[in-house]
Amino acid sequence: MAASGNARLLAFALVLAVAVLLRLRGVVCESNHTHFAMVSRGGGNAPKGSGRVPAAAPPPLDTCGCGPSPLPSEFLNRKLAALYPVIQAFKKTITCDPRGVTASWVGPNLCDSHFGGMAYKGFYCDYPPVTGAPQDNTTLTVASIDFNGFGLCAPSIAGFVDAFPDLALFHANSNNLSGEVPDLTGLPYFYELDLSNNNFSGAFPANVVPLGGLLFLDLRFNRFVGTVPPPIFDLSVVALFLNNNGFYGQIPDNFGSTTAEYLVVANNQFTGPIPRSIYNTSANLSEVLFLNNKLSGCLPYEIGLVEGLTVFDAGGNDITGPIPLSFGCLGKVEELNLAGNQLYGHIPDVLCILAKTGKLQNLSLSDNYFHSVGHHCLELARSRVLDVRLNCILNFPNQRPALECARFYADPPQHCPFVPHIPCDLPGFRPPVAAALPSAVAHGGGGN
Ligand SMILES: *[C@@H]1O[C@H](CO)[C@@H](O)[C@H](O)[C@H]1NC(C)=O
Ligand SMILES: *[C@@H]1O[C@H](CO)[C@@H](O)[C@H](O)[C@H]1NC(C)=O
Ligand SMILES: *[C@@H]1O[C@H](CO)[C@@H](O)[C@H](O)[C@H]1NC(C)=O
Ligand SMILES: *[C@@H]1O[C@H](CO)[C@@H](O)[C@H](O)[C@H]1NC(C)=O
Ligand SMILES: *[C@@H]1O[C@H](CO)[C@@H](O)[C@H](O)[C@H]1NC(C)=O
Ligand SMILES: *[C@@H]1O[C@H](CO)[C@@H](O)[C@H](O)[C@H]1NC(C)=O
Ligand SMILES: *[C@@H]1O[C@H](CO)[C@@H](O)[C@H](O)[C@H]1NC(C)=O
Repeated sequence: MAASGNARLLAFALVLAVAVLLRLRGVVCESNHTHFAMVSRGGGNAPKGSGRVPAAAPPPLDTCGCGPSPLPSEFLNRKLAALYPVIQAFKKTITCDPRGVTASWVGPNLCDSHFGGMAYKGFYCDYPPVTGAPQDNTTLTVASIDFNGFGLCAPSIAGFVDAFPDLALFHANSNNLSGEVPDLTGLPYFYELDLSNNNFSGAFPANVVPLGGLLFLDLRFNRFVGTVPPPIFDLSVVALFLNNNGFYGQIPDNFGSTTAEYLVVANNQFTGPIPRSIYNTSANLSEVLFLNNKLSGCLPYEIGLVEGLTVFDAGGNDITGPIPLSFGCLGKVEELNLAGNQLYGHIPDVLCILAKTGKLQNLSLSDNYFHSVGHHCLELARSRVLDVRLNCILNFPNQRPALECARFYADPPQHCPFVPHIPCDLPGFRPPVAAALPSAVAHGGGGN
């Protein structure tokens, strides 16, 4: 139990480490990511001389290239003996293997990586987390599969991934896997599914919806289309990557139920507004990328209530209206991108001052219709933290033609509510609440 808990925690920590390393920017720019399961399982430490042809002649191959079937007694235990035909059956369906990994899927040593060997590349073993079970060769089983970067082509993973009863992780970034995502609800320890950068298509894979134990779901860079089922946002995941597919329709209203810290829906065809329920993610959400969709409507005031946000990116959409003053409460935000929308009005100083009182390092508001900036924003523009190119700001360089701005303001796309209330204590922007004012706030920068 303890060992499995540790393994889970370790992998958990690694997921976070990977996501943080990527800063999510990488999630949308690159289509692969680090081999963290390799590290966590102690695999991938190729002994000296790996890659050379082994001195001993390889065993004679049968016609399918599967090698002679080992005797049942040659496997460490019955579970592994039962998994052997599963792997061999999958191997027969593989139509391309540019790195030749399946050549290592021969013989009885499915857990070779556990003993520092080179057989069964991509398969990693561990002891199942059953209280009281012996942790020896009689219980060792395949706990994780990591095919990241193998480039394998296979028409289906059904009957394969779902046939490993103790599987916790399936990572298959950058392969050419297709077909249905199988029902994995029969795998009690399963918690990480990475199908990114493959050849999956069709509707959202409904089989992932009931996976209550899932912590990490990565479907990015496939050819999925259609709407996203609302229950996805009820999963207790840490990371949810749906970017670079063909998803469309509105982002479901229960979006705010997500427990995700990292959530990316970028580069799809989503329409409609950013759901106001986003306020409800405030305990967990740290980085969220909506960029390059067809989102519209006003920027919800509720975004400012998501205290933990460090990256908010809704660039490249059709969002309109002013920036709510509540954005001034995003004290942890480092990157805020709203470029390439139809935002207008005054760029609020409460936002720009976050470069001084908060963590703000990059504020992209270019290619909108803002007409003026506050005093702190002027400073930020000078120091290039704030990008306001292609707006309607008088006497600023690189702005839109006056006529285009006049036309926009004569008939803005939507009149959005302007809420003057700021839902947090901000130095200089609200009358101090008498003696209750904390000293840290009292010496902050002034207003305008
Ligand atoms: C487990 O299997 C490995 C590899 O076959 C072997 O070296 C080791 O001695 C075995 N351990 C036990 C306790 O049987
Ligand atoms: C992963 O992406 C990096 C940078 O985008 C690239 O250099 C590397 O070759 C890729 N690895 C694989 C296995 O595709
Ligand atoms: C990708 O999937 C399509 C079916 O959607 C299939 O026809 C095609 O062969 C697959 N490509 C590869 C490289 O496996
Ligand atoms: C998938 O197959 C296509 C067509 O053969 C190829 O262009 C592409 O690079 C492959 N993708 C990966 C990740 O191996
Ligand atoms: C989300 O936040 C809640 C409350 O802080 C916490 O109990 C929960 O573990 C978090 N969920 C995740 C997946 O981090
Ligand atoms: C807020 O999130 C919780 C789960 O974290 C969920 O049960 C609740 O329905 C959500 N409320 C709204 C209004 O989204
Ligand atoms: C700031 O953010 C924009 C938009 O997200 C990005 O294009 C730009 O590279 C970032 N600038 C820096 C210096 O990181």
